Parts: sequence; structure tokens; C-alpha cells
Amino acid sequence: MKGIIPAAGLGTRLRPLTFTRPKPVLNVAGKPIIIHAIETLRAAGIDEIAVIVSDLTRTEIEYTLKDLSGPDLTLIDQHQQLGLGHAVSMARNWANGESVCVYLGDNLFEFGVGSFARQFEAERPDALIALVEVADPSAFGVARLDGERIVELIEKPKTPVSNLAVAGAYFFSNRIFEALSDLPPSPRGEYEITDAIQRLITEGGVVLGQRVQGWWKDTGKPIDLLDANRLLLERLETHIEGQVVNSRLSGRVQLPASARVINSKIVGPVLIGEDVTIENAYVGPFTSIGRGSLIRNAEVEHSVIEALAQIENVDIRLQDCLLGVRARVSGGRRIPRTLKLTLSDASEVELT
Ligand code: G1P
Repeated sequence: MKGIIPAAGLGTRLRPLTFTRPKPVLNVAGKPIIIHAIETLRAAGIDEIAVIVSDLTRTEIEYTLKDLSGPDLTLIDQHQQLGLGHAVSMARNWANGESVCVYLGDNLFEFGVGSFARQFEAERPDALIALVEVADPSAFGVARLDGERIVELIEKPKTPVSNLAVAGAYFFSNRIFEALSDLPPSPRGEYEITDAIQRLITEGGVVLGQRVQGWWKDTGKPIDLLDANRLLLERLETHIEGQVVNSRLSGRVQLPASARVINSKIVGPVLIGEDVTIENAYVGPFTSIGRGSLIRNAEVEHSVIEALAQIENVDIRLQDCLLGVRARVSGGRRIPRTLKLTLSDASEVELT
């Protein structure tokens, strides 16, 4: 089985972060989202992977994947963003008759997708879809089940027929490419993978649902990135190699040899990147700090800080923050409130 990761979307719900870099290359728990996706596929035994890119996302994704060894990766262009179904159909020739797992690059599954792959391989249906119970299904594809079989699938319905949302892992026989060809666009003008699956159902194909065990996260919005970071850091293991001077580290902390902590307090889980300096600072739980960043005379917790960011001389605690590459926060007198920031790359905030 081959894997397809659609990574051509604009990530509009994550603006401003995605104005400068596409969602798949944003970091959570110290790794670009697309690398988490590739690792998930590989853990399920899928090593041959196509990443569908757009003209806007290709360069950044290519750069992010350039040093990755192991999987057999192919980038496939989708020059026009006409929907998920359209993105998948770009991989038809590459799939070359084999069955495929379509894994939405912005989804995270606590236990990966191995159990879906195993059921698919064992039962060989036309499709097997990961399903998850959610409070508001209208934001997703929604499935109606009869036993294990999906009998109806509707994309983002106004009045959902069930609370079972389509999570971002689909396993397909090669019949999906037939179902995708000459599919009409949906009311929102996109070629929907959901409509192609509905076509398989209508034509009598076997389409199964398997419920997701453990947590599942679709990282569409800023709060989802913070949640995903938190969920992944729950598994962090302590590994301290870097310099620690006059500081207290508690909980699970990763500090690589090139990073240093001086006169500071760190309460894990905290993931610190290469060449990071933390000085006269507090770093609280569920924080990831990207390569080369500086935190000095400041307090940060429950945040994702990308590479080369600087937080300096800030008297109020930064909480729930997403800071892009080279973002800077500086200055400050004591203000008795927390500060909630979503900053794109190269943003600057001065608290004067
Ligand atoms: C896509 C699919 C939707 C699915 C969701 C899961 O929606 O179209 O059926 O439930 O992914 O993440 P999107 O997030 O692209 O709006």
C-alpha cells in the first residue's frame, strides 16, 4: 500500500502564521506537522509516500523534507486548489493500480493509523475510513453507519445525520480513482473526497468505518496547534545534555547539548531546541521552543515558539502563544494580565 499526504491547502484558518509558511511545515512538539504525518504512515508500514503540493507550498515542503532519510518520497503538483478529491486524483498515475492510504497532513492520531491499515489489508474493502465521535460534526465529513458499513457520507452537513466525523485517514482500493474521475463539484465548488466515497457506496462498494481509539486532533486552528503540542508533549521523555547553571528543572524536559539554561526555572513537559538560550526566565508546562531562540527575563508557558524567536524583558507571563520564526517580543512594565498572542514570522511586539 502507498500513502498520499495532501499538503497543498492554504491553511487560511491559521493565518497569520500561514501567510509566510504553509501549515505542514509549522512545528508542533519540535517537529513539522508533515514529519509527524510521514512518521505515522511509516509506523503503519507505509514507506512509499506522495505529498501533494501546490505552487505556493512546494518550496517550503521540499526544503523541510530534503534531509529526511528512509521513506520513498515523491512530490506531486496540484496547480489549482480544487479540493481534497482533486488533490488525491493527482496521484492516480503514481499509485499505479495499488491501494492507497490518504492521510491528511494536518491530522494527528494518538495511536497512529496501524489498526486501520491492518483491518483494510485483512478485509480488502473498497474503502475504510477512520471515524470519530465529535460534539459538532457539521465542521466535518459525517458518516451514517449500518454495523461496520458506512451507508451515507456527507461533507459538512448543516443538519448532521450522526455525531460520527470523518477523521483524516482513508484507506482505498484503486477504485477510488475511478470514482474521482468526472465527479461534479460540490456546492462550495470543490471536488470532495467525501463525494467520491459516497459514489463508491452508491455503486455497491464495500465502505467500512473504524472508530478512532485514543485522541485525534485536526490542527486547523491556532488553538488546535497548542492542543496538539500539549498532547504530544505528554509523551516527552527527559533528556538533558545542555548546560544548566543555577537553575531548577522539574518534570520532563529535553535540553540538547547546544542549549543552555541559566538562572531559570523550567517546569516540564518542555521541549527545548538546538542552540536555545533561556536566562533569568520561567518556562512552564507544554512549551516547545524552536532552534536558536532566546528567552531572557521573561516567563512563557503552554506555547509553541518557532526557531530564532526572541522573548526578552517581558514582565507578564506569555501564555497560549504561537510565535513564528524570528518573531520578537520585548520590553515591558508590569501589567497584571496575561497576554495571548498569535504572531506570524518576523512579527514584533513591544510592550512599552
Ligand atoms: C477535511 C475533509 C472532512 C474531514 C476533515 C478531517 O476537511 O473534507 O471530511 O472530516 O478533513 O480533518 P477540511 O479540514 O479540509 O475542511
